Amino acid sequence: MKTQKIVEEEEVVRKGYDDIAREYQAKRQTFDNVEVLTEFFHYLPKCARILDAGCGAGVPCADLAMQAGFEVVGVDFSSSMLKMARKNVPEADLIKEDMTKLGFPDNSFDGLIALYSIIHVPREMHASLYQQFHEILKPEGMMLMCIGSDEWEGTDAYFGTQMFWSEPSLENTLKMVKNAGFQILSGKHLVIGGERAYWITARNQ
Ligand SMILES: C[S@@+](CC[C@H](N)C(=O)[O-])C[C@H]1O[C@@H](n2cnc3c(N)ncnc32)[C@H](O)[C@@H]1O
Repeated sequence: MKTQKIVEEEEVVRKGYDDIAREYQAKRQTFDNVEVLTEFFHYLPKCARILDAGCGAGVPCADLAMQAGFEVVGVDFSSSMLKMARKNVPEADLIKEDMTKLGFPDNSFDGLIALYSIIHVPREMHASLYQQFHEILKPEGMMLMCIGSDEWEGTDAYFGTQMFWSEPSLENTLKMVKNAGFQILSGKHLVIGGERAYWITARNQ
């Protein structure tokens, strides 16, 4: 059950990305995730079905995953970001949905990627988000995600609009991911495009 505070924070994010979809996409290549994604793809079986949670404009993640021969489902709650994704990656299955309440059956995916999206989910929702990821991933399914390096929550100006971020402590994130049923294979701080984030590769159990 989402409190009014959570609903309002999510609305800041959804409206924010609707406002800035173009500007966000124009700057997206600053963050070069090709290496980290390519490394992750090695864990996946051929023709794996992957969920891109908070897929944004579909680049680079959904696009690279399609090029690697995977079946890609992208979910995002911003209509403007999804519209760009539909242009950028027309072959992907792109769904307008809130990633905190996905309707996929259990064991739907071999892989799940969440790049720079969990940072916008109110942290009260993180434990249930990871639990849901655990359920929709097959046993042994793989997850790649990144989260902020430092605990912080707040609203700030972003590309001329308002944006909300929510980052638990790293210790709490690791605990929630493990408690949801994941084995963490690697966790490391990486600086990409001048921004430091913590990257987790985890196997579903
Ligand atoms: C910083 S962008 C990252 C997009 C993409 N993953 C990338 O790497 O470029 C964050 C995206 O997460 C989406 N998002 C945030 N919270 C969400 C939620 N609860 N449900 C669905 N999408 C969400 C936003 O709409 C936005 O497109």
